[in-house]
Amino acid sequence: MTNTAMGFGGGKIILVGEHAVVHGTPAIAAGIRRGVSSIARPADQDSLHVEPWGRTWRPNAKSEEPLERAFERILSRYADRPPLRFVVRVALPPGAGLGCSAAIGVSLIDAIDKALGVARSRAELGALALEWERFFHGDPSGIDNLASALGGLLCYRRSSPPRRISPKGSIFLVVAHSGQRSNTKEMVARVSQRLAGSPEWARRALDEVKTLAIDAEAAIRSGDLIALGAVLNRNHEILRSLNLSTNRLEALCREARSAGALGAKITGAGGGGCMVALAAEAEHADRISGALAAESFVEEVGRAA
Ligand code: PMV
Repeated sequence: MTNTAMGFGGGKIILVGEHAVVHGTPAIAAGIRRGVSSIARPADQDSLHVEPWGRTWRPNAKSEEPLERAFERILSRYADRPPLRFVVRVALPPGAGLGCSAAIGVSLIDAIDKALGVARSRAELGALALEWERFFHGDPSGIDNLASALGGLLCYRRSSPPRRISPKGSIFLVVAHSGQRSNTKEMVARVSQRLAGSPEWARRALDEVKTLAIDAEAAIRSGDLIALGAVLNRNHEILRSLNLSTNRLEALCREARSAGALGAKITGAGGGGCMVALAAEAEHADRISGALAAESFVEEVGRAA
């Protein structure tokens, strides 16, 4: 029997290690409450309607549109099913470094599973959503889809199962949008080219990010927010040296630090998109958010979904 069902995929914030994670270094990400919900209903034909964008897509393996190819691939994973209509509500800005495409994929798979009564763990769901992500990002590390499916704080290394991190206390983050769109595929290609062109520098940079991820995990576990902030700042410098920052992102990091943020950095692919800043506590996060001349929100991370 096929039911009407709702699925959910959360957004994510990368605290340490974006880009380096594509090249095999561990990274730390936090799932966030904002995300994407999808409702699946039996219908006459398969379709996917994204509400805030006011557009409808159909599955098509030969389409020019990655979304239609990705939709076809995911549907092809379910044998003998009735046609389904999906209505998708996206509460994440696309191209902002918050894992919007992965969250759509996770929410769709979750909705189909529930509609058809397929039992699958969130970890398995996250792993399947990598197939969806590949249509958008070429060579995704897998961190976005897993963080979206699992929520909470995770340490992830490519091709290994993610590991949950239990923080000593709540971690309050401020996320601000630069207003510029980020293109993950382009930025990943830019970084890969830069690393291939300077292998010695690349090895040192990746080694340093690995150390930063280890330090960040220790700081999260022990509640040492000062140390965690220092890691964020240093990771930002490395991302900046990879040409992933913009004047707008630099200004946001400066404003956040002037408002007392313990650390601030690009989050996600960069070249636009969002900045994340670490606050000492909840009220401090609100103050930082209020001091930024940008659209921003506060997120308390660390609790499993
Ligand atoms: O900007 P987003 O949300 O697509 O995040 C990309 C994260 C990268 O590390 C740059 C790419 C990846 O696949 O891990």
